[in-house]
Amino acid sequence: MHRWMGPRFKYSEITPKEVYFSRRQLLAGAGGLIAAHTTGATASAATFETSPSRWSIDDRPNSYDDITSYNNFYEFGYDKADPKRHAGQLTTDPWSVVIDGKVRRPGTYGLEDIVKPASLEERIYRLRCVEAWSMVIPWVGFPLADVLAMADPDSGAKYVAFETLYRPEEMPAQRGVFQSLDWPYVEGLRLDEAMHPLTILAVGLYGEELPNQNGAPLRLVVPWKYGFKSIKSIVRISLTDTEPPTTWNLQAPREYGFYSNVNPEVSHPRWSQATERVVGGGLLSPRRDTEMFNGYAEAVGSLYSGMDLKKNF
Ligand code: MTE
Repeated sequence: MHRWMGPRFKYSEITPKEVYFSRRQLLAGAGGLIAAHTTGATASAATFETSPSRWSIDDRPNSYDDITSYNNFYEFGYDKADPKRHAGQLTTDPWSVVIDGKVRRPGTYGLEDIVKPASLEERIYRLRCVEAWSMVIPWVGFPLADVLAMADPDSGAKYVAFETLYRPEEMPAQRGVFQSLDWPYVEGLRLDEAMHPLTILAVGLYGEELPNQNGAPLRLVVPWKYGFKSIKSIVRISLTDTEPPTTWNLQAPREYGFYSNVNPEVSHPRWSQATERVVGGGLLSPRRDTEMFNGYAEAVGSLYSGMDLKKNF
């Protein structure tokens, strides 16, 4: 069912077109599953019609199983298998996002105000984790720039801050006295990084609605930065005039900088970043050479011209 069919494959050719939001509304009601069956869809997730993107890479994506069962989502636990095990209990519908700070149109936006089904694209990106592994994921998403334009940043806006849901009732690792991270998980980008066409908000993968463990219903994907910048399950986007705090930088400032651009020449203090283990490649598969900016040097290098990337790691 999740077999990869190639980048130009259109999901609409084998699945009946589903309108994403009416599907979410159907599932919210008691008759949801019946309604889903009568439209011929599976009960697991809505499907999307997407257009291909010039920003996709040609590499073969990892299996659906790799992408959805080997995760970092510390709100659900620290083991790679914990997010899949525990994230099912997260309620993602209804969902709203507060957009505030230095914008002319602040407000609490429903997911349907933010996600325009017609603008959804498939973006096949390599996700390079700071832990020196990587996988290739066929995201469904749209440029973050679209949402920022809707909120209309004012001239004071220089950075974008993001915040994940804080809901200990449904996120087990947010409960308890001893917490290893400060919640909510927060991240940030410079405004020009946020406006770059490679930067997307994802709502799905493999043509289907995002599984909770991958950051449903709305998560950031910044493919030239280490994976921890790609914050999941976003509830707030704030435009600011100062560099926002970020979770891993607060936790270990010597190890994780604000920029966190993928850079094979700048080691993590405890390990090299020159190569990466390819998830799903099997025990004998060779490590992959990590590329500058995860392969997007041509597209994003100019954002950092004149900056010392060893200092601004
Ligand atoms: N977002 C939140 N809210 N909490 C997290 O623990 N982990 C990050 C990032 N976003 C994380 C998060 C890390 S370390 C990585 S590598 C990616 O999510 C993993 O995304 P994936 O599980 O979809 O592959």
